[in-house]
This record gives sequence, structure tokens and C-alpha cells, in this order.
Amino acid sequence: MAITFQTPSNIRFGAGASSKIGELLKGYKAAHVLLVTDEKVRAAGLTRNAEAAIAEAGIALTVFDGVVVDAPSHVIEAAAEICRECGVDAVVAIGGGSVLDTAKLVAYLAKTPDKLDDIYGIGRATGDRLPLLLVPTTAGTGSEVTPISIVKTPNDEKKAVISPRLIPDWVILDPVLTLGLPPHLTAQTGIDAMAHAIEAYTGKIKKNPTSDQLALKALALLSANLRKVYTDGSDLEARLDMLFGSMLAGMAFANSPVAAVHALAYPIGEIFDVGHGLSVALVLPYVLEFNRPAAEALYAELSDVIQPGYRRQSDAADAAAFIAEIEAICRDCGVPGSLSAVGIGEGDLSKLAKGAMKHAERLLVNNPRELDDDQARAIYAKALAGVSRP
Ligand SMILES: NC(=O)c1ccc[n+]([C@@H]2O[C@H](COP(=O)([O-])OP(=O)(O)OC[C@H]3O[C@@H](n4cnc5c(N)ncnc54)[C@H](O)[C@@H]3O)[C@@H](O)[C@H]2O)c1
Ligand SMILES: [Fe+2]
Repeated sequence: MAITFQTPSNIRFGAGASSKIGELLKGYKAAHVLLVTDEKVRAAGLTRNAEAAIAEAGIALTVFDGVVVDAPSHVIEAAAEICRECGVDAVVAIGGGSVLDTAKLVAYLAKTPDKLDDIYGIGRATGDRLPLLLVPTTAGTGSEVTPISIVKTPNDEKKAVISPRLIPDWVILDPVLTLGLPPHLTAQTGIDAMAHAIEAYTGKIKKNPTSDQLALKALALLSANLRKVYTDGSDLEARLDMLFGSMLAGMAFANSPVAAVHALAYPIGEIFDVGHGLSVALVLPYVLEFNRPAAEALYAELSDVIQPGYRRQSDAADAAAFIAEIEAICRDCGVPGSLSAVGIGEGDLSKLAKGAMKHAERLLVNNPRELDDDQARAIYAKALAGVSRP
């Protein structure tokens, strides 16, 4: 079977990299740039160097700092309209996954006549977009390297636009921008990145050798550094490794997509207004435990990747050790042990399971083990009780 692997072609990397943005924009002969961000990120000063660099390059700048978490469709449409009105000819985004997902679609919608409602799904966005430069401030979603934007629709559903047209022209990784990310967000976004690598590595349909290597390196970096950055956010080297790891995980899952962890996480975010990383962390060990019979050998391969020095025994023991270590990382990084911590009760489980099934076509198809409505409900029940082991 032939394999396609797609990823951005330009990546700039290192402390202070975001102050070089003016130079990069000149390469596109940009005269007027839209900077997409959110109020918190801008108030924290994370856009300051980039704004100065854009001014120094003599490029006009319009700032859109109206992004809110989970990229609602009306915000994307409003920002695209500003782009068109101002005659913007390039888009820069500085922020977490919500900002990057917004900007990817803004750059697309500003250039094509397509409407957002018409491009949900896989490969439906086929037009041109404006030059696009993405600077993540979480580590993270990996959105800076994926062909995906996740959008919250007016009825609070999460829908995806997936198209190579959303892969940016430049990725700029500047760990300085992540130094102030508070411990709980550091932990939750880092666990999201780990989930991307695990789900890519165990993907049922599109698992491939390139994604595998990226996922392995991503998991090694993320597991070695997550506890460090959770306890000491000012560790620049560890922050850089986290950002590198989350990008590699993004490259992996962009080409071997995520599965049941994400399918079960989305309804938690949709119904209970819980951030993406936390939704993922709350279900991760329980979905891994459910998948174990089908993914045992692959989980075993990951056991000494996330625990250097671990001595492999048998697939069964190693897969169990892998899941136990993921649970320990979640616990050590302050992830609550039960869904009740975000207000979920027994009466919500059927609704959540139904929500997870909505992601059957895009996500559950990639899961190493098939699962139905009842099994999804049972996984949520275990996550509510806080018991992952049978
Ligand atoms: N496109 C993809 O491939 C992909 C993959 C996974 C998730 N997602 C989407 O990404 C979104 C989640 O993104 P996220 O987890 O990065 O969080 P986020 O962008 O939603 O941000 C969460 C909070 O962190 C703040 N924040 C961000 N960076 C900060 C920093 N450096 N310092 C202080 N505060 C900071 C933000 O202002 C916000 O309040 C979800 O909508 C999810 O669906 C997209
Ligand atoms: Fe994710």
C-alpha cells in the first residue's frame, strides 16, 4: 500500500524565534498582516516581539485578539471578514490550539469564496489561502503542523475541517512563549500531545513508518519533560523539548489520525465546557485499558520509551506497565482522578456515549479496537468511578 505523508516545509526553531517574523513575512511580499491571537495571550506580552518585528519590517498590522477557546465558527467568520475588509495579504497566529485553528480557517476563508459550513469534513477545502505563519504558545495540540481545524458550531458541536490547504507556510517554535503557561494548562496540553503520539502509533488504518518514528521521539520527549515543566515552568530547555515533542506528535497524528481517546474526549468538552487537554486527560488511561486486548503489543513497544530503564518482560506485563505509567503521569500532573471533578454524574454517561458515537466516521474508525455505544458508556463509567483496571 502506498503511503502519503504531508507536513509543513518550513520550521524555525529556538528561543526568540518569534522576533524573526518580520523577515519571514517579507518573503511573501506582505504589505498588511492580520495577527490572530486571544486577549490573554496578548495581555501576557506574548505577541509583543512579533508585533515589533512586523512594524520594523514596514508591514501594516491589524490585530484580531477576539479568539475564545475552541474556535467558535462565528469568531472565525468575523476575523475572515476583517481580513477581506482590510485587504490583508498574510495571516500570523500566536496562541494555543484555539487561536491556530481559527487562523488556519481565516487565511483560507479570506481568500476563497467558500463558506465555512460547506467545508466541514475531509478534503472539501480545495481553494487557495493567504500565506500563513503559526506560532504555538502551548505544547500542545500540534495544530501548527496539522491539516486540521476544530470548530465549535453554534449548537456547541465540534466539527473538523481537514485539508492539506490548512498546513501552514511557516511554523515558528519559540519556547520562551510557553514559559508562563500555568501548571494545570501545561499538564493538560502536554497530556493531549502524548495522546496524539499514542493514538498515531496505534492507529488502525493509517499507521505508517514515518508517523511511528515521530510518535516514538515525541513520546520520549514528552514523558521525560512533562513532570519537569509542571513543577518548574521556567525550565527553558524542558519547555523547548515539550514544544518539539508536541510538534512531532502533531506531525505523526496529522498522517495517522487520532481515535477513541479523542472521540470520547470531545463530548466532555462540548457538553461540560471543559478544555480540550483536560477532556483528553480524563479519559486517556481508561481508553488505553479498553484498547489493551487489541493494542497490547504496540503498548508494550511504548513501555520503555516512556520509562527509560524499564526492563521489558512480556507484552502483557509491558502493556500494563505502559498504562500504569501514563496513569502515574496524569496523577503526578494534577489530573483529577474522576469525571466527577468536572461536574459529570452517572446520569450524563449515556449522553456522553451518544456524543462519542458522532465521531465514529472520523475518529473511531482509527481505533485499534472497535467500540459501540454501550462500550463507550462503560469506559465513561470507569472514568467516573476512577478505576481503570478490570
Ligand atoms: N488542529 C488540530 O490539529 C488540533 C489538535 C488538537 C486540539 N485542537 C483544538 O485546539 C484547542 C485547544 O488548544 P490548547 O489546548 O492549545 O488551548 P487553547 O488554545 O484553547 O488555550 C487554553 C487557554 O490557555 C491560554 N494560553 C495559551 N497559551 C498560553 C501561554 N503561553 N501562557 C498563558 N496562557 C496561555 C489561552 O489564552 C486560553 O485561555 C481545542 O479547540 C482543540 O479542539 C486542534
Ligand atoms: Fe488533542
